[in-house]
Amino acid sequence: MTEQDFILKSYNSNIESGSVKWESPSNIALVKYWGKKDHQIPENPSISFTLSDCKTITEITFTKRDPSAVLKVTPSFDFDVYFEGKKNEAFKPKIQTFFERIETYMPFLRDYHFKIETSNTFPHSSGIASSASGMSAIALCLMSIERLLSTDVISTERSMSDEKSHFNQKASFLARLGSGSACRSIEGELVVWGKNESIAESSDLYGVKFEGDVHSNFNNYQDTILLVDKGEKQVSSTVGHQLMYGHPFAQERFKQAHENLAQLKTILASGDLDEFIKIVENEALTLHAMMMTSMPYFILMKPNTLEIINKIWAYREKTDSKVCFTLDAGANVHVLYPQKEQDSVLEFIKNELIRYCQNEHYICDQIGKGALQINS
Ligand code: PMV
Repeated sequence: MTEQDFILKSYNSNIESGSVKWESPSNIALVKYWGKKDHQIPENPSISFTLSDCKTITEITFTKRDPSAVLKVTPSFDFDVYFEGKKNEAFKPKIQTFFERIETYMPFLRDYHFKIETSNTFPHSSGIASSASGMSAIALCLMSIERLLSTDVISTERSMSDEKSHFNQKASFLARLGSGSACRSIEGELVVWGKNESIAESSDLYGVKFEGDVHSNFNNYQDTILLVDKGEKQVSSTVGHQLMYGHPFAQERFKQAHENLAQLKTILASGDLDEFIKIVENEALTLHAMMMTSMPYFILMKPNTLEIINKIWAYREKTDSKVCFTLDAGANVHVLYPQKEQDSVLEFIKNELIRYCQNEHYICDQIGKGALQINS
């Protein structure tokens, strides 16, 4: 697949109005994407668990614009954004940029007014990035609109199963242009993004469902998110990715991600949780090490992040647990563990870890199956 394959060539814009709705989950990377080239092409491949309960729910209502008002110049996209029922101006610039980036592939964007109504299942200021779930939800809604406008074209050109895979691929392709990691939120349960030799179908352009063998140890894998710091991110991921330009360790890091992904593929098949832990924790700490050694440099962990990590290590030492942690580009900790340890690890979290969370807040989630269309 190339970018050209995602350009919608002809469509029927006689449809006056309609509405589509999707819920799309967040995801947590096991091998991290950190560093990108132009057009949101990743410097290294990544793989993530799709989450189940941390989701964005988005409805887009589209209404045909008066053709004389549709000037083919920027900023002629016409949309309003509502977040949790209230009009939200703050989200508009990001969506404007997103529309500009995807217009080549969705030429109908200027023909309609879009009312975008969105909400999250997790608290807004929780320090959980909503860009993956948010951007993937919008991308999926736009794909559903594209499908409504182009039914004839699709039915003659592709079979149903090809159509479903094209739909998911293009949704992921578009989501990537909104926020890189969002391309891993369309499907479950494990998604790879970025070309890697060990995964034949992998691509830099979109995320693909991991089709390798996955051992039953990973069934319903648990992710409890400990909210150590609910504030605004100290470094946006845009700035973070830029810090990898000219970073003294960048090339080695990109190479390591390729190797870790290839190894993880074997580990997912064998179910070796000790080896799983080594890769996942090493990836989290490497991501933070990259930020600590960039110029300018940042420490995104908080003292309580380290307290939690040390407690997890001590608990593993003391028990036979396979609990481990991973981190995003912030202070919050994702505690990962097998479903069969659910009761004991939750007990441990409540007794020993939540004291390090802001207002003792944490969110229980688990590996999920991907986005779902909701009938409006
Ligand atoms: O999708 P972005 O640009 O917000 O980058 C996300 C990067 C990490 O969350 C730190 C790692 C990842 O692979 O999700």
